[in-house]
Amino acid sequence: MGFYADCIFPWLMDLSMRSESISAERRRVLRDVAGDVLEIGFGTGLNLPHYVVGPDGVRSLTALDPSRGMAKRAARRLRQAPLAVRLEVLPAERLPFADEQFDAAVSTWTLCSVADPAPALAGLRRVLKRGGRFFFLEHGRAQAEHLRRWQDRLNPLQRRIACGCNLNRDIEGLVSQSGLRIIELERYFLPRVPKIVGSMYRGVAVRDG
Ligand SMILES: C[S@@+](CC[C@H](N)C(=O)[O-])C[C@H]1O[C@@H](n2cnc3c(N)ncnc32)[C@H](O)[C@@H]1O
Repeated sequence: MGFYADCIFPWLMDLSMRSESISAERRRVLRDVAGDVLEIGFGTGLNLPHYVVGPDGVRSLTALDPSRGMAKRAARRLRQAPLAVRLEVLPAERLPFADEQFDAAVSTWTLCSVADPAPALAGLRRVLKRGGRFFFLEHGRAQAEHLRRWQDRLNPLQRRIACGCNLNRDIEGLVSQSGLRIIELERYFLPRVPKIVGSMYRGVAVRDG
């Protein structure tokens, strides 16, 4: 993987993704997450302090991320977490879990980076219980044509500097094509962030059948 992907990028990611405004975004998407939960692309564990833990909230958290560098940086937050977390160093394309195991699944700023999002989302649907919900907070393809053109132009550079992160993924399309039904979706721009990286999708999708 190399020093940049193992050490520098996890450090940079952790530093840039824990501001008060980003934390508020995390709280907003995580406040209704409950039951036995799977989080894909756990990163450095920045969502951990924002889960509502308890009998009516999160009962258990299973998390995965393929990067050992991210997992290493998550260690301190895992020790301080208000619940025990099972963390697997694995990509979302290979979920080693039984069918219909989880009440909820979570992905924040991760579907941009998953190498093969279609099988990852199909697997996620498989491990969700019927009626289970997928909570997502992602950046991706903008609605305005001129922004999309810049996203396409700059995507190769972004993929290099941000370890495979894509600027131009159609998150709504990817989630819908997985067979999950989107029941809530908000599109907006993150404030104080260039629009090509701050075009957001915040939503909830449900597994019907
Ligand atoms: C921008 S970071 C976001 C981390 C975290 N979700 C957050 O909100 O802070 C993207 C994360 O996706 C992870 N990732 C990359 N490929 C992945 C894959 N195939 N499956 C799951 N996670 C992946 C990266 O290792 C990284 O931790």
